[in-house]
Amino acid sequence: MRGNEPLACQRDAFSLPSDLHYLNCAYLGPLPRVSQEAGVAAVARKANPATIRPEDFFAESNVVRQLFAELINARDPNRVALIPAVSYGAATVARNTPVAQGQNIVVVGEDFPSDMYTWRRVARQSGAALRVVSPPTGEGLGGNWNSRVLDSIDRNTAVVSLPHVHWADGTKFDLVTIGRSAREAGAALVVDGTQSVGALPFDVEEIQPDALICAGYKWLLGPYSTGLAYFGPRYDHGEPIEENWITRKGSDDFQRLVDYEDEYAPGAIRYDAGERSNFILLPMLIAALRLILSLKPARIQEYCRRLTEAPLERARELGFAIEDSRWRGAHLFGVRAPAHVDLAQLSQALQGRKIAVSLRGSALRVSPNVYNDEDDLNMLVQVFEEQSQ
Ligand SMILES: Cc1ncc(COP(=O)(O)O)c(C=O)c1O
Repeated sequence: MRGNEPLACQRDAFSLPSDLHYLNCAYLGPLPRVSQEAGVAAVARKANPATIRPEDFFAESNVVRQLFAELINARDPNRVALIPAVSYGAATVARNTPVAQGQNIVVVGEDFPSDMYTWRRVARQSGAALRVVSPPTGEGLGGNWNSRVLDSIDRNTAVVSLPHVHWADGTKFDLVTIGRSAREAGAALVVDGTQSVGALPFDVEEIQPDALICAGYKWLLGPYSTGLAYFGPRYDHGEPIEENWITRKGSDDFQRLVDYEDEYAPGAIRYDAGERSNFILLPMLIAALRLILSLKPARIQEYCRRLTEAPLERARELGFAIEDSRWRGAHLFGVRAPAHVDLAQLSQALQGRKIAVSLRGSALRVSPNVYNDEDDLNMLVQVFEEQSQ
């Protein structure tokens, strides 16, 4: 394990094209070379099924649990479930969180659809109110938005569902303070960590979420259709959304699978999706998680901060608006162009220079990671400069 010294650029650990300025990890994380290699080896393995042993149905899944638990500082790896998508984790939480008429569900405005649709349905079916906390306008958006979330939680709140950083513009939510308020209200704190876990430290002990749900293909640098969810004690005795043979106690004894067993495997294993032991995707995810653990999220966040500080200052001088660093991710942030800059033209100019960012609403979403270097950010600001003239 490396120490805490600042990270150097990790471009060599990836195989991104040399002329591409990829500032779009919030869209799809590039697979590290180690994951690609693990994937190729895993594909070959299935050509000879005899190489896949019964214990492999369990061992790799447990390694994934262990690595993710380490990443989020969870003591018990069995609190981690393997899921295929955030919508699956959200559906599991929704099924196991009693919500009644007269109660409310707090969500943030413009939240990711997989979360929003889930809570909309719960609200519709239960008769509870959905409190959508919209972003305020003007100066101090991040701080004010956090205050609004806190003001929305009351003794009738059943669920507070929000991300650590907002997927569209990187606004950071103070999960320790919001979590405390949710606990006082007796509400479940449900966090979508897809756009942060892996690049921003997340500490389960400190935040005490009831559930933390992450897609694996962005900041966890894993393959698509992998996801991970942590479930706290609130969900210890819940009902999974499907019944699969492997999530039962003693399922490692293949000979006795039809001695049907009523008890589930421990912790959150009951919430694993069917065929969770994906022999191709899991080795890829394991390699990616090991890489992230060796780099460390705190150092990844600091790397992104150092990389972006001066270029963003220059962008501000040109009239571009960027949230105060306290209230946004260093790895994911929105850049709002001044009125005289045509967004469509700006977007085209960025594409022309092979700068990959995303357009989300009226903001450009910029999301660097450890493979980016100064040249990527300088190129971005150079295009800002040209388009400002
Ligand atoms: C915050 C957030 N959650 C979830 C997802 C993906 O959702 P799902 O895994 O349900 O497809 C994304 C994708 O952009 C996201 O940004």
